[in-house]
Amino acid sequence: MAQNTKNLTSGIDPLDLLRPNIRNLKPYRSARDDFKTGVLLDANENPFQPETSGSFSAPLNRYPDPHYVALRNKIAEIRQVNAEQIFIGNGSDEAIELLIKMFCTPGEHKIGITSPTYGMYKVSADTLGVDIADAPLKPDFTPDVNAILELPDSVRILFLCSPNNPSSNLMPRELVIRILDSFPGIVAVDEAYIDFAKPGESMIHLLDKYPRLVVLQTLSKAWGLAGLRLGMAFSSPAIMDYMMRVKPPYNVNALSQEVALRALSNLDAATKARQTLLSERDFLANEMNKIPGIYKVHESDANFLLFRVKNAPAVYRKLADRGVIVRYRGDQLHCEDGLRVSVGTPEENRQFINVLAEILTL
Ligand SMILES: Cc1ncc(COP(=O)(O)O)c(C=O)c1O
Repeated sequence: MAQNTKNLTSGIDPLDLLRPNIRNLKPYRSARDDFKTGVLLDANENPFQPETSGSFSAPLNRYPDPHYVALRNKIAEIRQVNAEQIFIGNGSDEAIELLIKMFCTPGEHKIGITSPTYGMYKVSADTLGVDIADAPLKPDFTPDVNAILELPDSVRILFLCSPNNPSSNLMPRELVIRILDSFPGIVAVDEAYIDFAKPGESMIHLLDKYPRLVVLQTLSKAWGLAGLRLGMAFSSPAIMDYMMRVKPPYNVNALSQEVALRALSNLDAATKARQTLLSERDFLANEMNKIPGIYKVHESDANFLLFRVKNAPAVYRKLADRGVIVRYRGDQLHCEDGLRVSVGTPEENRQFINVLAEILTL
């Protein structure tokens, strides 16, 4: 790739990177795009409410707001961006897949990943028939900027995960900025775990400067709403406009919109839960460092820890036999002997430590 000089890429219009069929797409339109109230006889809905228990106000016989205006405005307020810079999806997994669909023509374009990283970038690309180009992280889990800039020109989107899953570290800010300055495609920074990192590390504040930057976030982690399936992409209004055209019209269901709004209106509860998880993360790291056989606990900017232990597969199985389920990651690049454990409740964490100590001191 020739363009690896600072700012050489700033003139590249993200819309020029769209697949031609996406650029010319006539999106699905419904009367509900224009009218939300009145005698609603436009969408072949059932006018009668079903019998459901629970205290939700969303009329479930009606399709949800396709533009999720209230939720978009709330997220805009919390993240300090404009509503037009936000896409909301059925988990950030939906955003990942849509981005690949928008920018990569199967057989022609590729996505770039930096192994070891979150597995869904590859799975989504594989399902869409889009190839992968890998610029692996260095053994200390920082990006290899030169390898990234050497990726073939066919790489339309680079997925950078920060904090990275499974290594748990933030990507150093200055390196991400070098990549943004020099990589000539879309740079999608997946910040699923950003609320567990120290404040101010999100790249979301760089959106105005880098129109080809996409930041992915989710309510599944720090907000405790994995069951809701709600993720966000933030980018330039131009990219977001296309993302809204390409998405299925009612991709965020009415209950998810309503519950998400409630949760996002109660910031104190989320802050309190996050503080507990952060102090529990320290507790886990301290205790694990005392257990013989564990020879490294990686510093974490996320709500999980990667640790190394001899005979990791056997330790994994023995934990499972005692009812404690962690993730074996020793088969991932640079993760030899690696197990990944999520930070649980204080009780779960003590149970995990007790069982682990018992297994390793037997
Ligand atoms: C890095 C990363 N991105 C995205 C996701 C998926 O998030 P969502 O639940 O919003 O689909 C995960 C889930 O584990 C993840 O680890």
